Amino acid sequence: MEHEIETTLTVNGAAVKRRIPARQHLVDFLREELGLTGSHLGCEHGVCGACTVRVDGDIVRGCLMLAVQANGCKVETIEGLSDSGELARLQEAFHRRNALQCGFCTPGMLLAAQDLVLKRPDATREQIREHISGNYCRCTGYQAIVDAIEEVLHGKS
Ligand code: FES
Ligand code: FES
Repeated sequence: MEHEIETTLTVNGAAVKRRIPARQHLVDFLREELGLTGSHLGCEHGVCGACTVRVDGDIVRGCLMLAVQANGCKVETIEGLSDSGELARLQEAFHRRNALQCGFCTPGMLLAAQDLVLKRPDATREQIREHISGNYCRCTGYQAIVDAIEEVLHGKS
């Protein structure tokens, strides 16, 4: 049996204590053990950004980080950030500007966008593009996504 490690973390504000297989990735733990399937699994190699979650205030790729590495950390997912209303402005802007089609990339994209809202609210259009360049979208061509983020940052219509 795979080695398991007692791990304590906070997920969307709730304390979680589990024995976690040493090699399980954070996104798998969130999806399979906690049923938080809003974080998606795409490439599983740190390339596409579909698995983006927030750990202690910074966005990370849940497919690269091991769940046991989150011991003692505060993990936030699309579910928690949606429920708290933190993403409401971005979600409305994405909706209004048709910045999602299949929606596969959207949770990761929203977390990346919110990271910018919090840490670099004066970002230019070019900097928005750069910031989300690690999040792949197969559907939209990015234009509408950048428009939506720009609208939230700068109130552009
Ligand atoms: S699934 Fe993690 S970056 Fe693609
Ligand atoms: S909306 Fe389909 S991958 Fe982005």
